[in-house]
Amino acid sequence: MAQGATAAAGNVGTADTAARLHALRMREAERYAAARPRSRAAMGQGAAGFLGGLPMHWMADWPMPFPFVVSEAKGARIVDIDGIALDDFCLGDTGAMFGHAPEPVTRAIAARSRGGLTTMLPGGDALAVGPMLAETFGLPFWQVATTASDANRFALRVARAVTGRPKILVFNGCYHGAVDETFVTLRDGQAVNRPGLAGEFRDLGAGTRVVEFNDTEALREALGAGDVACVIAEPVMTNSCMVLPEPGFHAALRAATRETGTLLLIDETHTISTARGGYTRRHGLEPDLFVLGKPIAGGLPASIWGMTGEIAERWSAYAMAKPAGHSGIGTTLSANPLQFAAMRAMLEEVMTDAAYEHMEALAIRLAAGLDEAIAAAGLDWHVVRVGARVEFVCAPGPLGNGAEAAAAHRPELEAVLHLALVNRGVLIAPFHNMMLCSPVTGADQVDRLVAAFGEVAAEIAGHGDRT
Ligand SMILES: Cc1ncc(COP(=O)(O)O)c(C=O)c1O
Repeated sequence: MAQGATAAAGNVGTADTAARLHALRMREAERYAAARPRSRAAMGQGAAGFLGGLPMHWMADWPMPFPFVVSEAKGARIVDIDGIALDDFCLGDTGAMFGHAPEPVTRAIAARSRGGLTTMLPGGDALAVGPMLAETFGLPFWQVATTASDANRFALRVARAVTGRPKILVFNGCYHGAVDETFVTLRDGQAVNRPGLAGEFRDLGAGTRVVEFNDTEALREALGAGDVACVIAEPVMTNSCMVLPEPGFHAALRAATRETGTLLLIDETHTISTARGGYTRRHGLEPDLFVLGKPIAGGLPASIWGMTGEIAERWSAYAMAKPAGHSGIGTTLSANPLQFAAMRAMLEEVMTDAAYEHMEALAIRLAAGLDEAIAAAGLDWHVVRVGARVEFVCAPGPLGNGAEAAAAHRPELEAVLHLALVNRGVLIAPFHNMMLCSPVTGADQVDRLVAAFGEVAAEIAGHGDRT
């Protein structure tokens, strides 16, 4: 039964709406559970043997009453053990941004695995990958790690080593993985530990400055003392809703860092959605250090971190002079043959310009469709895009910084939306409203997402069919 109620923009905050959202969430949760007897039997009470009943506690962030158990993830589809297939726009939150199990990667891994899984020595694929990294990402010297978190940690260590400075600077609301020193937030102009951080006994504010993204003046002031080794930044803030750089911000960031002898680390782990070579190459950024994890090996755990010739020279001088002993950089399983086989396949056959063209065209279609659905529902939400990555934000935009993004985040509302989308055949990232278009995503999948979103948005706005 269509309700036909009129909903003014921004009405998704009234008591009436809260009650409607709650009722919708209950209905959707029941529908989800009823459709998945096998997953419910496996996961309804938690999986045996795991702390909290989950193999990784992030899985508790899904909005479903229990996570479904995956039987196969292939291309841009994910199928559960109850036989339900979803259009996957989460794509392992970026690890599978180029589609699940790309054939060139699975082929390369299968072939290489027969020759040894880990050796602590280079193989033929490593020799091929080095020059490709330099060519693709525009920096001459690279190292391989296993996660983007590790790569960021190691690059920051190099930055502190070569500058001899103790501090780093982050943007408020950033996320760069499990990198201790980045977990600060801005409170009354000071960096303080983020409230949710577990087991942290240090005052991280002692080693980290934090300013708002797009605030050039605060940035200049924070770098002025000359004690910051490195600014670590995503070129677009993608982990805090999505905040785009204002015109001139990147030029100002680079100028301020150069003028103060501060290094600039660009973390492209998410913004690699922009183009081959990332946002850096597309927009001519000039980082001293560069990090990319997640999709670089097609979903196999691997990351890369690179540096300019100048930083490499300074690092060599530092490394020769430092006492012998652990550097705190590197892990045993890093730079293994499977990582190189997978990266080679990705760089040669999967992360192509043609793939990006397809991805971006679909993302444009998706963003336009979502915009239309939002307007049709009479909501005051907005949509942001960086290449193949699209985000809807359940608040007016554009957002200028992390504080505005935090205020725009609507966890309850977003959880209902995500769950309702799953029941309509679409999976999007659980942590925020992020959707990725892969080279194997189809226009039909985008159109189904837009239709599902439109239906749910209308219901949330009070226009929907509530039968
Ligand atoms: C920009 C950015 N950098 C680094 C990371 C850390 O990646 P990982 O969890 O694979 O270490 C993330 C994870 O979401 C990220 O978004």
